[in-house]
Parts: sequence; structure tokens; C-alpha cells
Amino acid sequence: MRLYDVTVEYQKEPIGIDVCPRFSWKLESQEENTYQKSYEISVAKEGKSVWSSGRVENGQSLFVTYEGSALEAFSHYDVNICVWDNHGNAAETTTFFETGLMSEDNWEGVWITTKEELPAVKTFSKEVCLQKGKKLRQARIYASALGVYDLEIDGKKMGDAYLAPGWTSYGNRVQYQTYDVTDELQEKSLVSLVVGNGWYAGYLNGEGEHHLYGKKTACIAMIRITYEDGSVDVMGTDASWLVSENAIRSSEIYMGETLDLTLPLSDHYAGDTQAVLLERSAFPKRLISQEAEPIRITKRFPVVQKILTPKGELVFDFGQNMAGLVEVELPPLSLLTGAKKEIRITHGEALDKDGNFYNENYRTARSEDVYCYGEGDVGKKAMPHFTYHGFRYICVEGVDSSVDPKYFTACAMHSDMHKAGTMTTSNRLVNRLIQNIEWGQRSNFFDIPTDCPQRDERLGWTGDAMIFSKTAMQNFNTGLFFKKWLRDVAVESDAKTGIPQIVPNVVKGSMGTSIWSDCATVIPWNLYMTYGDTGVLADQYDNMRLWVDWIFGQCQGEVLWMHGFQRGDWLALDSDESLHLMSGGTDKNLVANVFYAYSTKIVCDTAHILGKEEDAKIYDGRYQAIADAILREYVTASGRLVSETQTACALLLYFDLVAGAKKERIIQTLEQNLKQHKNKLTTGFVGTAYLCHALSENGLHDLAAELLLNEDYPGWLYAVKMGATTIWERWNSVLPDGTFDTSGMNSLNHYTYGSIGDWLYRKVAGITPTSAGYATFDIRPYLTKGLEEVEAALETMYGSIRVHTVCKDGQIQVEVKVPVNTTATLYLPEKEDALVLGSGQYHYVYETNTVLIAGRYNMNTKFRDMVEDPAAKAILDAALPGMLDGPMASFILNQSPNEMLAYDAGKKEMFEQIIGQLNQSV
Ligand code: BGC
Repeated sequence: MRLYDVTVEYQKEPIGIDVCPRFSWKLESQEENTYQKSYEISVAKEGKSVWSSGRVENGQSLFVTYEGSALEAFSHYDVNICVWDNHGNAAETTTFFETGLMSEDNWEGVWITTKEELPAVKTFSKEVCLQKGKKLRQARIYASALGVYDLEIDGKKMGDAYLAPGWTSYGNRVQYQTYDVTDELQEKSLVSLVVGNGWYAGYLNGEGEHHLYGKKTACIAMIRITYEDGSVDVMGTDASWLVSENAIRSSEIYMGETLDLTLPLSDHYAGDTQAVLLERSAFPKRLISQEAEPIRITKRFPVVQKILTPKGELVFDFGQNMAGLVEVELPPLSLLTGAKKEIRITHGEALDKDGNFYNENYRTARSEDVYCYGEGDVGKKAMPHFTYHGFRYICVEGVDSSVDPKYFTACAMHSDMHKAGTMTTSNRLVNRLIQNIEWGQRSNFFDIPTDCPQRDERLGWTGDAMIFSKTAMQNFNTGLFFKKWLRDVAVESDAKTGIPQIVPNVVKGSMGTSIWSDCATVIPWNLYMTYGDTGVLADQYDNMRLWVDWIFGQCQGEVLWMHGFQRGDWLALDSDESLHLMSGGTDKNLVANVFYAYSTKIVCDTAHILGKEEDAKIYDGRYQAIADAILREYVTASGRLVSETQTACALLLYFDLVAGAKKERIIQTLEQNLKQHKNKLTTGFVGTAYLCHALSENGLHDLAAELLLNEDYPGWLYAVKMGATTIWERWNSVLPDGTFDTSGMNSLNHYTYGSIGDWLYRKVAGITPTSAGYATFDIRPYLTKGLEEVEAALETMYGSIRVHTVCKDGQIQVEVKVPVNTTATLYLPEKEDALVLGSGQYHYVYETNTVLIAGRYNMNTKFRDMVEDPAAKAILDAALPGMLDGPMASFILNQSPNEMLAYDAGKKEMFEQIIGQLNQSV
């Protein structure tokens, strides 16, 4: 048996933690049906035991809380874990953690700033000397800023994190970072904090608004040096620190950064050279240790294509839309063309239909980085510090077009979460879609969950995060990421306005609204189910309750929520076009009340788990009342829905709000609605997350498969075929002719429609947790027409679950891997009985008549695509004489058989036969 992946509060060997830690571990065994019988944890400081759990006879391997004597600040703790299994095997391993300040009282160092407000980036520095004759054992720097900062020692950046201290509800909580600088401090070193405006003082939410948190940036740091003899030197920021200018002449998150390496910088800026203490009123309420993974560069992309556009622009394509920055190896000056020796780089996500550079969809976000440099800088690698961009392409000015693309490297950046799920199928386009979903997340899990990484928004829209959260948790381990952000959600919520729609909230005074504010209940619940972390429920319980109680108040004594602002099924395609509504065609209050019911149910279930039975009773009563009232208000006795949209049907089915004959009727309504729309979806942000689930769960999985594999507008693969490398904000962000949506709100990197990822994992691959953390889970792969092979692996807190399903050549093969300490219930496709499996690897092979090959042609293929193949054209001409050459030919060629059914539904069988013939002919 192997004991591995030991984590302390989700992290491996963390330094600078300020919480009472919880330990988790994974087990691997050669033997089947292995589970943990007991464990023992010992924690020691400098060799002296501070806690031993003793041998605990149970199977808990997640989040075992430290229960020893109070932890001391700035201390290293060694941890030893022993585990015994049911076969009599034992395994043992060690890890460690190091505490940070543990209490704000331990800060030495104060917030410092400059006398007057400065537009540019500043450097605060201090010379630090080691004591002569003493040997250094360890050095740490704890640092933070109101703004964004880099810590430097003698001009070298410390650590690999970007845009520290990250974005939190600054007035309430600011994170500090811990740096191990043991190997960096010399006898005499210059310690500097370079501080930019960032989210704190820069422009946010459009060009007009800046200084949303404060006018003056500031920083704080504490240097703690421990010598071999045990003595400790501590120094912190104070008014003796010096302030100077640096090469960063301007830097803004939306606008980009200008670096001028040629300026003969005086040591200090024109104002006062001394830092001043920040006035108390500007202090954040709390300075807390870093709570989640920092933003790091996770992947580098070389240029894949150099393009000289019809307009004459020099453009580089990195082949992948992403959030991050371009690193420039400063090219020889002989290649610079302007009088001013500078390179100007503008970022864009796409080329327009003529092949020219395009970034009008960035609105006021200039996303422009400028490098001005001299001979001595040639060959140096330069990158902006306090900005980031969403981009796939860059337009480069000031350089001769003969320049070698090797000088430019795109660096993808995001919160550096651990990868959890991987999935591949036998369909190339679906595989690209899976990649696009992942890149949507990589680009937008940027310390907070942002809506998009490119335009002048990049805000923590709560609804987007709520909708995508399940998929997000399958792609990456988001335990820390969401935990941190949910604390900001909680601190910015109140009983008067409810839960904000944007967190950190830069639009004060807005009220809670359905879907967006449901992040407060749905995300903690999804975290609990995914990671088995009850702590997150305890952490968030008050805020979860606040949300449903707030709605309860809004209902003014009625059961349902019928008043107030709702966004509905955002960007759905089924609203009356002439109204230009973005809230879709589904009754907005229906959407709101389904989520009111769901959130209330979550609070009820959470109360049970936390042992708050009185509360559970109250919320259970409310849930039943809301669910009944939804039926009364929106569903007739015979099962007709008030709002017979795809989204309304999907919501009532997915959230189990209808049963019996009414349910059957709604399933039929959904099927009919899809038919009326030529089996294409019309759903927006909300319905899209649940539509395919509702179909698969109600006997219409083939229809769900058709939606997935549809390559025409609107659908996921339409964007893939249009060359998307991320998920678009709108189904029609790019039109078939290559023009763009012009609503002024058109991002090509918005993760929300990536919510189909959850269906891919749960239904297509078939992995669904049935208890918290996947301690028990179902494996139920749905055979999906068009996907002969599907393989998924999901790294859970217990270890890796793997399912590999192949259905071809008259045979079904299913391979599964079940981690130690978990139990799977396997529903083999086309078999009656479920199998209950303990840990191990299993392989099943059996015969089938099912054929999953989707032919080259299907009912959605346009006739124009069919006639390209002469053999197919001949079959069509024989079956439909004259149709493709007659007066209606140009119209018909642009239709698919499914679309033609709208004119003559009776032709279905005939078309299907023709398609069958066509597929046999190729
Ligand atoms: C954002 C969305 C967000 C919405 C709220 C947009 O500008 O990009 O994703 O949820 O506003 O309606």
C-alpha cells in the first residue's frame, strides 16, 4: 500500500499558513477492495511532539483536523502519518507545514505609502544587512500591498507569483504572501516592493472608474531572519523606507504597461524620497495569509504564424486564446523602425473576416504594452508586471516585418490550481471542445472567477461562476480558489441587499438576483460534494442562509418570488428578437423560483450535515412550499408549462420539480420544442447547463448527443469549426461569414457555455458522486451516438477514478479504476444489474448490436455539403429528381434534411433512408 499526495489544507508542504490545518491523504494498493481501517497522525516541532492523534479506528482520510496544542507563529511543524488497511498492510509518510503570522499582532512593519498620489508605479526599498559573524539559517519575507506588487531583492523578482496580493474585498481582507528568501539575502541586500495600481487604484469596469478602493497605493512587509544560533532579526516597513521611480512608466490592468528602460532614472522620484505612513482610515480590516493558489505562468506558447494582414499590420498568432502576457526578448535595435526606439504590442482574440487584426470587442481596454529600450537591453527578456490581457494574436508596431517571431512568447497565466479531470473521445471536434472548456477556465480563474479576460470588465460575475462551478471542479481542484472567493462573497453580502452580482463588488448598491446570487449556496454545496469538505459548508452556512432568507423577505408574505430584478436565462436565443432582450424567452420568475427552491433545499441539506436540525426543519418546510407553489403557478393539471421553452422544461426536469404524468408531458414538450427548432438549442446561460442532463435522464440521450455533435449554429461545435480555442460568450459571437456580434458585449473567452463539461463527465463518461468527495460514486456511461470511444480520468481527493468505454465492432468494453477507500456502483451499458465495486481495476467485454458510428452525413448536414461528393450527389439526384437543380435549388442547398422537415414533416423517413445510403456510399 502506498500513502501519497498528503496535503495540509489542500496544499503540499505549505509555508505561511495561519489556520488550524487539516490533513488529507490518498492511498494506492495492489489489492482489490482496499479501505483504510485506521490512521495515526503525529505532529512535532523541533523534535518535540505537539500532537498525536493516537491510532484512530476509522476510514477518514480527508480533512483530519489538527487537535494539538496551540500552534506558534513562524514555526516549522513535522507531520508523520501512518495508515493501516483492511488487509493488514501499513503505510507511512511524512510532510510538514510552516505557520505564518498566525495573528495580526505579530506584524512588525506598518503600511507605507507616498506623500502625494502618483500616477505611475513606485518602488519602496530598504537596505537589509545580515549580522556579521552569524550564520543564516532561514529568512522569510511577509509582504502585501494595496495595489499589486512584486517583491525584489537586489532587483531580482522573488517567487513565481504574479499580481500579488491578488484581488479580495480590499476594505475587508487583504492577503499577505510568504517568501522563502534564505538563499537570496546577501550580507547587504536591497529589499524592494514595486507597487502598481492594479485592481486597487486602477481602472475597473470601464474607463471611467478608477480609485475604487483608494487613491494611493501602499505596501507592507516584514523581514524575519533566523540565525543558526537561534537569534532572530525582524524588521518591517516604516517611514525610513525610500521611494523611487522605476522603468515602469504606467501600468493598468485594462490598458497595459509602458516600460522605458532608457530613462536616466534618478534614484528617487521628484517628490519626497521618504515613504510616509498610511493613514489608519485606509487600512484594510484584516491582513490574512494567502488563501488560494497564486497566479502563475503555467504554459508558454511560441508564435505559430506570422501574418502580414491586408491592412499591412504585423500580427503574430500564438494558436491559443488565453489570459496572460507576452514575453519579449528585446530584438536588435536595427530591427526597430520608428524614430523612438520602441515596440508597441496590442492584443486581440481574433482576426476579422478580411484577415485584419481585430480587438474592437475590448471596448475601452487598450491592452497595449510598450517597450522602449537601448543597446544595452538588447537580448534581455522583458514582460509587463502589473497588467494582463486576454489574447491569441498580437499586433506589433515599431519593428521591421522581417523580425523573427522567436522574440515573442505568449505566457498563459491563471490561478495555479491542480489539474483534476482529463477526457478524450473518438471525436476530434469534441476533444477540441473539451480543450476549449479547459482554456475558458484557465483564462478566467484569475485569482477570482472573472467573466472574461480581455474587455474592460474582467469582473467576478457571480452567476457565471455559479453556472460553471461543477465543470470547473471536474477540470481542476478548485477547493482553495473558491473557498477564498466565497469568503469575499460572504463579506460583501448583507441582509439589506442580499448577495452581490459581482464579487469583489465594484458596483455598490446593486441588489441580489437569481442565478448570480445563488453562487452563495450552490458553489459551497458543489465544493462539499466534490471534495468532501464539510468545513466549507460550516464556513459559508450563515451566508447560504442569508441568501434564502433574503429572498424569503422579498416575497413579502407570498411563497414565490415574483418581484424584483431578474436576468433570466441570460443571452438565450428564444426571446422576441425585436425586443433585443438579453434575458431570453423563459419566464424570468420561473427561473428565479426554481433556483429559490434549489437554494433552499441546499440550505436544508447543509443544516442536516452541520447538525442544525431546527434549521433543517424550517428550510425543509419552505422548500416543500416553494416546490408546490411552482407547480401551482407554472404547470397546468395536464402538464402544460406556462413558459414552454427548452430552459423551462430542462429546469423542472433536472431539479425534480415534476413527477408522474406531468413529467411525461414536459418531456414531450421538450422534445417537441427541440424538433420545432430543428433539434438545435435555444438556451442561454442557465438552460444550457441543464438541458443535456434533462434529456439524458429522461430517455432522450440521443437527442442530447445530437445537440452536442451539431456542427451548425447554434451549438458548441459550431464555434469549434469556426476555429474557436476557447468558449464564446454568445452562440453567435462570430457569424458564419466571419463577422462579429456587434452588441458591444462580445467576448470570445467566456466560460459559461462550457458548463456542458459537467454533462460530458457525468453522462458521457458517466462519473457522478453519490456522496461527498466521491467516497461513493456511480459509473454510468451513456452510449453516445458519434462517440465510439470515451476515456475520462478524474483526480478526486481519494485518488484517480478512471472510466474507459469503447463500443464498436459489435463489442462493448468498459475499463474502470476505483480508488482505495471508495465504492463505485457500475451500471454497464445495456446491462440490467448494477455492480458494486470496491477499489481496484476492472475490465468488462461483451457483445452488442449497437453501432455508434455517426455517418459522415446526418439529418443536420446541409445539402450543399452533401453534393460536394459526386457519389452522394448521384444518390440525391436519383432519390429527389430535379430538387437540387430546380428553381429552389439555391434555397434547398442551404438547408439540411432536418430543416426541410419544417416544410414537410412527412419526408422524415425518406430523408433518413437517403442519409443511410449516402453514409454507405462513402
Ligand atoms: C458579463 C456576464 C455577466 C453579465 C451580467 C456581462 O457583461 O460579461 O458574463 O454575467 O454581464 O448580466
